[in-house]
Amino acid sequence: MSIDPNRPSVARMYDHYLGGRHNFAVDRAVAERAVALVPAIPRIARANRAFLHRAVRFAAARGVRQFLDIGSGIPTEGNVHEVARSFDPQARVVYVDIDPAAVVHARQILDADPHTAVVQADLHEAGAILGDPQVKALLDFARPVCLLLVAMLHFAPDTPELRGALRAYHDALAPGSLLAVSHATGDVGELADLYTRTGTPMVLRDRAELAALLDGWDLVPPGLVFSAEWRPDTPPDDPASYATLAAVGERR
Ligand SMILES: C[S@@+](CC[C@H](N)C(=O)[O-])C[C@H]1O[C@@H](n2cnc3c(N)ncnc32)[C@H](O)[C@@H]1O
Repeated sequence: MSIDPNRPSVARMYDHYLGGRHNFAVDRAVAERAVALVPAIPRIARANRAFLHRAVRFAAARGVRQFLDIGSGIPTEGNVHEVARSFDPQARVVYVDIDPAAVVHARQILDADPHTAVVQADLHEAGAILGDPQVKALLDFARPVCLLLVAMLHFAPDTPELRGALRAYHDALAPGSLLAVSHATGDVGELADLYTRTGTPMVLRDRAELAALLDGWDLVPPGLVFSAEWRPDTPPDDPASYATLAAVGERR
């Protein structure tokens, strides 16, 4: 699998926002343009990671020990397996990303870890992901799984393929499974235009549009809210400024 250092990668740009080192000059250049448009981006990215951590802790506290993280990006500090393992060292995590950059870095970092796997695939290929031999070897679909779609559905336009894939994940997962979602929203339209020019268009959705994608999942309190408001460790200041909605739903 090869990485193109001349084409900006959403995963590597996000790594740069978080202060990581898995990125190239081309990623930093576009990421800096994005930050010039929306200076709060690094703060938004950190708040998104904090939501991810809270969602994993919530799932683990409910006894969920298996995680399918689609659109996982480049593994960075406080990754899903690290958080899940603070509850159970045997927790299993499959990371999936469409971007070879994310997959190559993840495999380097997780190499030889028997309780994790890294798969390159598109979210829309639900059948391929759920049927992947590595996924089936690691995850027991007769038991609850936490599906993570964190800061990634805003890269998936509304299509019958997206609806079909989301339905397929819902139907494949056992009762008690969870879906954790965060999603860009609000007044960051210029950012969406920039991402479109990088080749990875961004789709901003409002609350009703995102709620429609979560159809079939019973949202746990507090429901679909700004990410900083979702079971915060400390009460958030100006949650709308994070321009991110979040929810966790349960499969009944
Ligand atoms: C902003 S990063 C989010 C990383 C991580 N989930 C987090 O929230 O910290 C979005 C990731 O989604 C991936 N992605 C975008 N479209 C995808 C698709 N159709 N299927 C799988 N991954 C996708 C990108 O490559 C990128 O790594």
